[in-house]
Amino acid sequence: MTNYTEQFRPQFHFSPQKKWINDPNGLVYNDGVYHLFYQYYPEDIVWGPMHWGHAVSKDLVSWQHKPIALYPDDHGDIFSGSAVLDSNNSSGLGTTENPPLVAIFTYHLMAGEKAGRSDFQTQGIAYSLDNGDTWLKYKGNPVIGNEGIKDFRDPKVFWHHESNQWILALVAGDHAKFYGSKNLINWNHLSDFGKDKGAHGGVWECPDLFKLNVEGTDQEKWILLISVNPGAPNGGSGTQYFVGDFNGHTFTAEHKDHRWIDMGADNYAGVTYNNTPNGERIFIGWMSNWNYAQNTPTKEWRSAMTLPRKLSLIKEDKTYYVRSTVVESFNDQVSMVKEEESVSLVKVFILEHQNYNQSEIKFQTNLSKPIEIEFKNQKGESLIFEMDPVKKEMFLDRRQSGLTDFEERFAKNIHILPVMVTDKDVDVRIIMDWSSIEIFIDNGRYVMTEQIFPTEFYNKLAISSKEEIRIRKFSLNKVKSIWE
Ligand code: FRU
Repeated sequence: MTNYTEQFRPQFHFSPQKKWINDPNGLVYNDGVYHLFYQYYPEDIVWGPMHWGHAVSKDLVSWQHKPIALYPDDHGDIFSGSAVLDSNNSSGLGTTENPPLVAIFTYHLMAGEKAGRSDFQTQGIAYSLDNGDTWLKYKGNPVIGNEGIKDFRDPKVFWHHESNQWILALVAGDHAKFYGSKNLINWNHLSDFGKDKGAHGGVWECPDLFKLNVEGTDQEKWILLISVNPGAPNGGSGTQYFVGDFNGHTFTAEHKDHRWIDMGADNYAGVTYNNTPNGERIFIGWMSNWNYAQNTPTKEWRSAMTLPRKLSLIKEDKTYYVRSTVVESFNDQVSMVKEEESVSLVKVFILEHQNYNQSEIKFQTNLSKPIEIEFKNQKGESLIFEMDPVKKEMFLDRRQSGLTDFEERFAKNIHILPVMVTDKDVDVRIIMDWSSIEIFIDNGRYVMTEQIFPTEFYNKLAISSKEEIRIRKFSLNKVKSIWE
């Protein structure tokens, strides 16, 4: 059994005790518990026949491991999907007194794929009457068959109040398909979206569809998340979003440009929780990238989830943007190490600290000023984040950050995030675990999430600028391990 002290082991991100994980699945809150199911292969640290692993949390920060929830069966392995609380027992799989949790997932029939068929992905359901502890597969599976679409997967289901039905979004190669149902069992196809919209560098995966309130107004917009692999701006896997409207039948996007939930290389297949207590939209992504996910240098387990983030929608110059901010309960994990009201960058500001790989750094700066932030260790490994207002870009350079040669594409390029430069003071928040960095700028308007594998903890932080500027409200915090 692990005590979560192995080299590179995330201290405050979810990772499995052992073996391989990928996408978060079945994100649902019920009766005081946030469920996190996930793509899991219990036999190896590379991808294999998929199961749904399971963990639960009361605060989205500390997690308790549960037994595997869904095992492969005659219909196939269990690919990604979602879960709902069927409060009115519309499915008849529980009772009104004890409504079922229903999981909706993709069956992937390996034998069918190997035989060269194109109908090997179908959608199935399973239900639990004890808040997720045990699951039964529905006897009439699959509930959505396949008429010959090779990539046909990742159903996300939610209750659409306005049209009084369940809506299911799934992906079919180069587009999303929407279905409607009164009982989670009989589904009828409503519409398609996206063949000629958005980024199409690779196959579409893991859709999500939900409403967000436009901050500071009573207006609402619908957001469609679509992961795409490959085709992300910094290579490999990434998650794009569309802002638009959904009328219970059809989704329409109101922009042509491509927008990404996170510009880092390691936030993929992210989806949001159903049924959260106060309707908050909480997102978790898989903190990896199919370009190198199976080669990262961990031994007992492989991959972790991003920190859970609350999504919100802002309107800037007639354009809507999705913001991501770490859930508030994370703040209970941190304790202050150092605070400075104002720091001059006339000379480099250097701060030594035993272990930056379990820390949070915050400060405020002006978005129109250049700034460079570097983390270093005794071995000469270094990770650089830079704001360049002339190029109107931020850069994350992990080329010398530690172990990088496990796969060529991991550290081939500096990663770029385009910024709209305004003369505005913004907050910068950097959260670093043993093998990841998450950067949130301007309240999560700009986000970068990336994996790093320093062979020793970073112990030196250097912040500098080409101009004589000051940064304000600097703080360095320590983050407690959730596994102690
Ligand atoms: C995304 C994905 C999904 C699929 C699952 C299989 O990372 O490819 O489309 O359901 O992983 O593990």
